[in-house]
Amino acid sequence: MTNILSKSQIEKMHDAGKIVALCHEKLRDFIKPGITTREIDRFVESLILKHKAIPEQKGYTGYPFATCTSVNDEICHAFPSSYVIKDGDLLKVDFVVNLNGWLGDSAWCYAVGNLSPKAKLLMDTTRECLYLGIEQAKVGHRVGDIGAAIQAHAEARGFSVVREYTGHGISREMHDGLIIPHYGTAGKGPRIKEGMVFTIEPMINEGRFHYKLDDDGWTARTLDGSLSAQFEHTIAITKEGNTILTKQGE
Ligand code: MF3
Ligand code: CO
Repeated sequence: MTNILSKSQIEKMHDAGKIVALCHEKLRDFIKPGITTREIDRFVESLILKHKAIPEQKGYTGYPFATCTSVNDEICHAFPSSYVIKDGDLLKVDFVVNLNGWLGDSAWCYAVGNLSPKAKLLMDTTRECLYLGIEQAKVGHRVGDIGAAIQAHAEARGFSVVREYTGHGISREMHDGLIIPHYGTAGKGPRIKEGMVFTIEPMINEGRFHYKLDDDGWTARTLDGSLSAQFEHTIAITKEGNTILTKQGE
């Protein structure tokens, strides 16, 4: 079961989340055609360290890098590499920051140069899915309400929701029990309670939801080769609704 966190514990997670948000804000200008995903990883890792925090993903169950940098048909967990990003690529950058033992987790999708209209629609829809899910995350609702809202929006656009990877409870551990599917049935699943902290991180595919794993044992990509997009926030459930702990500035 997910821990119920106190206000002061949530504040500590918010401090970690603010570093995650700041890294994403800085990535907006850093990401451009011609750089490698390894350079993106180094940029984020050094920013995290500069803020006296730790890149939690590095070494987590053997994952070798500070970030996951997944491009186009890669759904998630792709290794930073010598791949040079190019105009029209859909890039997802995901990382977890540990500040004084408390974690913040956010993945963001970036358009490299100019996207095709199809890729742009997928990216916009996925961001909308994240915020529709967040709207459902409040006391009195159930976890299934989140997934149902996300699934309805994605499928209305003809896209599909990845099943294999889900949002998760997070606190001092990256995955601490609660599972947040991005599909499902309204009114089903665990009740949402004040003090819960979890991620919502829909991965939406242009084609079908089926995936395959690369030989590296980490990189997940769409089985049909179609594009995949993802946006993720860490949120805390409050009396009134929720607080986005990894919220970026405009
Ligand atoms: N940040 C990812 C998530 O949203 C997980 C990280 S991948 C791992 O769950 F390398 F750290 F395992
Ligand atoms: Co993440």
